[in-house]
Amino acid sequence: MSNKTKSRIREILDERLKLGALSYEIPKHGNNLGYCLGGITLFGFILLFITGLYLGAFYYPDVAKANWSVRLITSSALGSFIRGLHYWAAQAVLISIILHVVRIYITGSYKKPREVNWLIGVGLLATTIAFLFTGTVLKWDQEGYEAYLHNVEIGKMFGSLGTLLFGSASETLNLLTKIFITHVSLLPLVLLLLLFVHAFLIKQLEISPLPWQKGETETVPFTSHLKKLTAYGLLFWVIIGIFAAVFPPPLGPAPIEGIEATKPPWFFLGLYPLEDLFGVRAIFYATTLLFALLVAVPFMDRTEDREPQKRKLMMIGLIVALALYITLTLIGAFAGPSAHLGM
Ligand code: HEM
Repeated sequence: MSNKTKSRIREILDERLKLGALSYEIPKHGNNLGYCLGGITLFGFILLFITGLYLGAFYYPDVAKANWSVRLITSSALGSFIRGLHYWAAQAVLISIILHVVRIYITGSYKKPREVNWLIGVGLLATTIAFLFTGTVLKWDQEGYEAYLHNVEIGKMFGSLGTLLFGSASETLNLLTKIFITHVSLLPLVLLLLLFVHAFLIKQLEISPLPWQKGETETVPFTSHLKKLTAYGLLFWVIIGIFAAVFPPPLGPAPIEGIEATKPPWFFLGLYPLEDLFGVRAIFYATTLLFALLVAVPFMDRTEDREPQKRKLMMIGLIVALALYITLTLIGAFAGPSAHLGM
């Protein structure tokens, strides 16, 4: 295509879509990998959304047929690959979110005036965890079944409200239908709303300056950031694609009621030793404590300093939290399966 034709096409599009507005200036360090992790996460969610549409077209949200319907999906090479993409994208998104949060924490980007956006982020993390949980249950093998029972057990702590939210509250509603609706309708809606506010605040408040920055910030057009993000995002998809092709996700047979034989997926494994020590309620208390600490972060660290070396206590807190999570996960990984539900 000649340069003349290209610029004519650009002109036609710009007249109608005002794409030129995307060329506003942003700080140059916005193109560093650490500052692209949120955008990379977004690419992961796009892949989850597309592959989820395919899976949702064949999934049967009924206790009697759910496991069978997932088997049917994976009986074709395409179905198996798409389920693999969905499964690995979910794990990859969790990892990129954790890295995104660690970057924001280390660079003190949650500080004034970005406290509200940090809190919106905490909501995004909670929504992602809810996606992971409901997704684990939907496949309805032994692991999914036991994950669900844990949730019911925690729900009992809240009496009839708990049954309404977590249990099969009504005889007329199949419990997997309820979880399916949460996974494909309620959570995507909450995620989209939160993402919209998150993006709006990033645009309004701009990317935080580098913690050690003195003087003028160098800038680049936002379109260069979009190009960089697309390159990282496509690479992210390729890595997820390789995992999906080489390691098809596991799927056990339909569950056997009344037995407890599995351990949670790796991201929830850290809760397993806590359950061993304190019972199922520990899941609720540990999760509440984690989110309370996350919410408290911008209120605990209120100085103007952003350099990590001037925020030693906060850095120690981060190292302790990560070390604890990794240690509990390892203990969970090596612990033998044990019953927590008293069945
Ligand atoms: C669904 C997951 C999320 C997505 C898609 C997302 C997306 C983004 C994007 C695209 C940015 C722009 C800069 C960057 O990428 O670093 C950003 C910034 C930010 N995010 Fe997130 N985010 C998510 C989760 C979170 C979480 C869990 C938190 C905190 C608990 C958080 C807090 C923030 C804050 C405070 C900023 C401003 C950073 C700055 O100005 O340097 N986000 N997010």
